[in-house]
Amino acid sequence: MKRWKEEKWQEGMRISLDFTNIMARAIGKVHGITEEELSGLEARAEEIDRYLQKKREDGELPFFDLPYQKGEVRRILRTVKGLQESFENFVILGIGGSALGAKALYLALCHPQHNFLPKRKRGGALRLFVADNIDPEGFQALLDILDPKKTVFNVISKSGGTAEIISQFLVVLDLLKQRLGPRGYKKHVITTTDANKGALREISKRERFVSFTVPEGVGGRFSVFTPVGLLPAAAAGIDIDELLAGAACMDQQCQAGKPWGNPAYHAAALQYLAHVKKGKNISVIMPYADGLSGVGDWYCQLWAESLGKRYSLNKEVVNVGQTPVKAIGVTDQHSQLQLYLEGPFDKVITFIAVQRYQREVRIPPAYGDLEAVSYLGGHTLNELIQAEQKATEFTLTKNGRPNWKISLPEINPFSLGQLLYFFEVQTVFAGGLYNIDPLDQPGVEEGKRITYRMMGRKGF
Ligand code: PA5
Repeated sequence: MKRWKEEKWQEGMRISLDFTNIMARAIGKVHGITEEELSGLEARAEEIDRYLQKKREDGELPFFDLPYQKGEVRRILRTVKGLQESFENFVILGIGGSALGAKALYLALCHPQHNFLPKRKRGGALRLFVADNIDPEGFQALLDILDPKKTVFNVISKSGGTAEIISQFLVVLDLLKQRLGPRGYKKHVITTTDANKGALREISKRERFVSFTVPEGVGGRFSVFTPVGLLPAAAAGIDIDELLAGAACMDQQCQAGKPWGNPAYHAAALQYLAHVKKGKNISVIMPYADGLSGVGDWYCQLWAESLGKRYSLNKEVVNVGQTPVKAIGVTDQHSQLQLYLEGPFDKVITFIAVQRYQREVRIPPAYGDLEAVSYLGGHTLNELIQAEQKATEFTLTKNGRPNWKISLPEINPFSLGQLLYFFEVQTVFAGGLYNIDPLDQPGVEEGKRITYRMMGRKGF
């Protein structure tokens, strides 16, 4: 394993970060971070690091160790083999952290038209659908096109009681019973939930559904490397061993040269300073790849739900949090960029650039007499998208707008594993800087309780 990982590093499969344009020396002191401001945070960073390391050693932050799990991964792969022999479609019934991780992996790592390819061209993998809303039109439309005989539904809920997920499940259960009979439905449902608690665990036991566990202490938005993300990803044909190897490599990098040798700590500190010292209330995540749109949504949830908090750890009212926004390059250059360049100085932009796209599209030369057209001929779309990313970065910097960049060598399971793990560590560490608990979500829970009451659940 170790040798294999080293080979990966040598092959240049490591993601890299560039913080130049968030610093004062690139954009000036008013909007950029000075070296003094960063070093002023060092003692606090070391304290947070000690606190996190202790919690990790005590097993209180289990998400840190997910890249190294073995048994559960083998069980997922065995299960998926059986599913691929019996079914065509894999449907996630989940919401928030119980859906966004799998969706991000699917959009990034499967063929962009995966569900339209014949099974042979998908390498036997299942089609994947993510039902993460209860819009009656959208949900019914999905059920309209699926043949229940060829479909397996993965009901994912850590708490096992979220109204949206349980109601979707009840609709599906009824449909399956009607179409497949009083026994036939059972193998069409797989659950992923807490090991002991919640209604979904109780139902899984009664029904003897195949079931996976969300490990104790891993919250929804930190669960992409548990069966919550891994089972759907594997069903859709994604190499989850590579994904976890990427996450493990990032973990090792995050152990080195503390505090700022740790790339996730460094990024968190700069984002935090941009927010609290320079008034950048908005964190724009801007990947230059359609496939990373789901990563943008996943990041938005992670950053918003983890850091948007009323109370500090000392129980003082602080109402902190930076608002995350997703923008896709180049599409949103023609929608959002005008605002980023000339609007309020309230944003920090994180680019995600791709060094090698999986496909190359040449632009054929034509209309040699029309300069506005002919200069493109002979280039590639790859060159164009990369030039536009660099041009946007340059213009933002020139206009004093803080930005920094994550470069992926290419979009593959290994780089995605690194990227998602990096964001998780960045978020937890940022929670330390804000002095809030990044792992709870009391506001979401309050909304859930009010819904239960409105829908007539006893005890609420
Ligand atoms: O990240 C989170 O904790 C939330 O987004 C939850 O995943 C979401 O509310 C769904 O909750 P559950 O998985 O408990 O049904």
